[in-house]
Amino acid sequence: MTAMIHAEGVRKTYGHLEVLRGIDLTVAPGEVCCLLGPSGSGKSTFLRCVNHLETVTAGQLRVDGELVGYRRRGEKLHELRPSEIAARRRDIGMVFQRFNLFPHLTALGNVMEAPVRVLGETRAAARERARALLDRVGLADKADAYPAMLSGGQQQRVAIARALAMRPKLMLFDEPTSALDPELVGEVLDVMRALAADGMTMLVVTHEMGFAREVADTVVFMDGGVVVESGTPAQVLGDPQHDRTRAFLAKVL
Ligand SMILES: Nc1ncnc2c1ncn2[C@@H]1O[C@H](COP(=O)(O)OP(=O)(O)OP(=O)(O)O)[C@@H](O)[C@H]1O
Ligand SMILES: [Mg+2]
Repeated sequence: MTAMIHAEGVRKTYGHLEVLRGIDLTVAPGEVCCLLGPSGSGKSTFLRCVNHLETVTAGQLRVDGELVGYRRRGEKLHELRPSEIAARRRDIGMVFQRFNLFPHLTALGNVMEAPVRVLGETRAAARERARALLDRVGLADKADAYPAMLSGGQQQRVAIARALAMRPKLMLFDEPTSALDPELVGEVLDVMRALAADGMTMLVVTHEMGFAREVADTVVFMDGGVVVESGTPAQVLGDPQHDRTRAFLAKVL
């Protein structure tokens, strides 16, 4: 079976700063992988490499069997054109800490926008699907609300619906709940939990240890630009093998 994400020795440098120093990581289709690690360990950078918002400096990174940024023709690798990069990125949904909704569009408008503009769906078809997606994230009654009228948790759920509207094969989440008031975190995690139960492949950077323990198939602990250890939640959270993992968990648990 082709891995959804396969990273081998992935490195990323900014000038003299080596942020990723050889990441090895595999995420299978349908797997939920939670990525943990201290601030500055390279979690966001790795996510950004997966959907090619950053270019890796060295190593191999494949998404669904395809080298990120390259197309194989015969034995040769060719760098992708911007249009091809954009086409591949469409298959990957990304949800950030900040909701980044279009303020001038309603919840429904936000979810419809890309399917109409990018995929060329008819407005009627996109509207129907957007309604179904808003229903799926528990916001059927907020379709006509503008982002400013929604709570942070509601905005983040719209952001998830908007990502799903592109029918992604992979969803990346970068601390999707860390900008939320504590009482709003649960509603977003519930939506993510349901998505995982539906079989979506998910790579999730989070500090929500309860979510990682319950929902993740794999937990990966990163520090200093490398994977220090990975395994089941019981292994990594319950019986960490490395001092760095133990020190981190002692702080967040
Ligand atoms: N565009 C950039 N140019 C230069 N340095 C960068 C750039 N992006 C990130 N860095 C540096 O790379 C390192 C890793 O950053 P990254 O955002 O990936 O960490 P993180 O694990 O996501 O941290 P956090 O938990 O705080 O979000 C940091 O030292 C950061 O300053
Ligand atoms: Mg980050």
